[in-house]
Formats: sequence, C-alpha cells, structure tokens
Amino acid sequence: MLTPEEQREIEQEAASYPERRAASIDALRIVQRRRGWVSDEALADVAELLGMSPAELESVATFYNLIFRKPVGRHVILICDSVSCWIMGYTKVRDHLKARLGINFGETTSDGRFTLLPIVCLGACDRAPVMMVDEDTHLDLTPARIDAILERYE
Ligand code: FES
Repeated sequence: MLTPEEQREIEQEAASYPERRAASIDALRIVQRRRGWVSDEALADVAELLGMSPAELESVATFYNLIFRKPVGRHVILICDSVSCWIMGYTKVRDHLKARLGINFGETTSDGRFTLLPIVCLGACDRAPVMMVDEDTHLDLTPARIDAILERYE
C-alpha cells in the first residue's frame, strides 16, 4: 500500500502532465526516495494510481536504470564505466572500490551500508573518473580520494 504522503506526492506530479502515465519515473522515484527501492507490490500500486498495467510500468522501471527493483544498501555507489572514465583510470578505481568494500557489482556490504553498481556515462567526462554516491557526484577519483569520500556516508 502506498502511504498517503506517497499518494499525495505522486498525484501532484501526475497533475503536472497532460497524461498521468507521463509521471511514471517521477512516481517511482518518489517511492524509492522513501523506501530505498521499489518492490513488486509498490510498483503495482503506483501502476494502479497512474492507470497503467504493472507490466507497462515495469518496462519503464527496467529501462530507467536508477530505479532499484531489489533491496539496496543505505547508500548506492554508481561508478561510470564509459570510455572517458576507462581512459582516465576506471579499472584502478573500480578495483579499489571492490577491494575496499569487499563486494562485487550488484552486491551490498554485509553491514548494509553500500551497494555497488556500474552505470553508463554520468556526463562529467572532463573530470573522469567519476562516480555517484546517492545523489552526489564525485569527480577526479583516485583510490585515496575514494577512501575519504566513503567516510562521509554512514
Ligand atoms: S565517461 Fe564517465 S562521466 Fe562520461
């Protein structure tokens, strides 16, 4: 069941579009911001509210890779694996993150603190390598900078 607050926020978004279904991504992000991820049940509730089938909304959620359909850690790290980041040291940064966290892509640390995922270009190629932690973009990464950045996220 969506909470009254979730319903109210989603209704506000839907009202700003000519068609309710155009608010799909916004609605999924509202649920994810409050719950950390979007369960099958929550997805079905959002679909009903927007007048769509769950399958239609699922295809939107699958296409948009920042909607999490499985539980994630308290913080999600998205590391860019596109070309500029590759050239500027992506592999070193990736290997450091994996070793430091003790996880692979798609996994969550045992304390539930971080989930690590790859992502395509984050649009900051001139400051590569780049990663996002939650809503924050971190630029010019080095292993030492990563250690300092991770400390900020409890
Ligand atoms: S290639 Fe990594 S930010 Fe563009």
